[in-house]
Amino acid sequence: MEFTKNILITGGAGFIGSHVVRLFVNKYPNYRIINFDKLTYAGNLSNLVDIETKSNYCFVKGDICSIQDLSDVFTTYQISDVIHLAAESHVDRSIEGPMEFVMTNVVGTVHLLQKAKENWSDGNHVFHHVSTDEVYGSLGEEGLFQETTPYDPRSPYSASKASSDHFVRAYFHTYGLPVKMSNCSNNYGSHHFPEKLIPLIIHNIVNKIPLPVYGKGENIRDWLWVEDHANAIDVIFHQGRLGESYNVGGLNEWKNIDLVKYLCKILDKKLNREEGENEKLITFVKDRAGHDARYAIDATKLETELGWKPSIQFEEGLEKTVDWYLQNQDWVEKVTSGSYKEYYERMYK
Ligand code: NAD
Ligand code: DAU
Repeated sequence: MEFTKNILITGGAGFIGSHVVRLFVNKYPNYRIINFDKLTYAGNLSNLVDIETKSNYCFVKGDICSIQDLSDVFTTYQISDVIHLAAESHVDRSIEGPMEFVMTNVVGTVHLLQKAKENWSDGNHVFHHVSTDEVYGSLGEEGLFQETTPYDPRSPYSASKASSDHFVRAYFHTYGLPVKMSNCSNNYGSHHFPEKLIPLIIHNIVNKIPLPVYGKGENIRDWLWVEDHANAIDVIFHQGRLGESYNVGGLNEWKNIDLVKYLCKILDKKLNREEGENEKLITFVKDRAGHDARYAIDATKLETELGWKPSIQFEEGLEKTVDWYLQNQDWVEKVTSGSYKEYYERMYK
């Protein structure tokens, strides 16, 4: 079959990447989707078992920091477009060891930009860079992040993502590379690695392990259903303007402690435990260094210009998420064995 596009999706075996790969493979049979992933601790091909035999999908194990790996995949598959999600994504790990974040998120992104520039001679391509709202820093009680909010990253993770965003813009302005960018708030949903708050709390409740809440649990995050993020990427990739950034978020702010208590309640019922039993597991632990107080996204540009909207209410999405974890304990077992145990021990004991 002749494909109309050969799209390289980096980080397609990760949490958000696997949802983006699935959406594109199922929705666009005339595109070939090449999932390019190093399979770090966060990458897992079992996230994609349902689509792995589709004729418009293939997986290539590779590292965005390797010029050879990138040359091979661009040549073999005649890559026409890139959706770039590969990254080190966990703030706590970036505090423990920033260099890995510089290498993958900054150096790897520049290698990828350079490879696209070398291979694309006309403007008929798209390089979509997927980024985060954390580049804007931390909000007080009022206000929302807009696309025009000045960058003010405060963790090694957000500094590395901000740097990658700057390089993407630099390739647009300097070399005319056809880039688009999106900056999204906290995602939740299935296949979320249990180092992040929501899957970690679900996992610990199931196993009756203490629920670690940083500081007083007063920090606020703006949560978005991961499939709504994937839909936003689809819309921006196809209809967004070149050189533009689009904020993605659901106006769904939760204090960490309220969210943890809400998960406790849902799981009291689902696990047939007494009301309030899970809440007893909540443990306030040492705060994250430089912990950003509040994130909240204004997605008006994406909504008015491209007609995107979140599809699902948080309560419904969270219940679906909890059900997915309860029904996929084998997946949880697999990803929490081995190095996760050492990580957990280091972080929380
Ligand atoms: P994740 O950690 O779940 O997955 C990252 C994926 O990248 C993994 O499959 C991993 O194997 C792969 N990877 C890492 N280093 C690589 C390398 N050198 N070469 C090739 N592949 C490599 O991350 P996620 O939460 O799915 O986030 C995906 C992207 O979205 C990231 O760029 C992140 O900054 C951004 N983002 C995440 C969120 C969120 O809430 N999780 C919100 C906004 C933006
Ligand atoms: O805002 C988008 C970002 O959201 C993404 O760019 C990042 O890749 C993603 O990891 C996420 O970052 P956060 O640091 O906000 O997510 P995390 O799930 O690690 O933490 C959410 C909140 O919960 C944060 O305020 C810290 C707190 N927390 C987290 C963990 C892991 C706890 O209180 N206890 C915990 O054990």
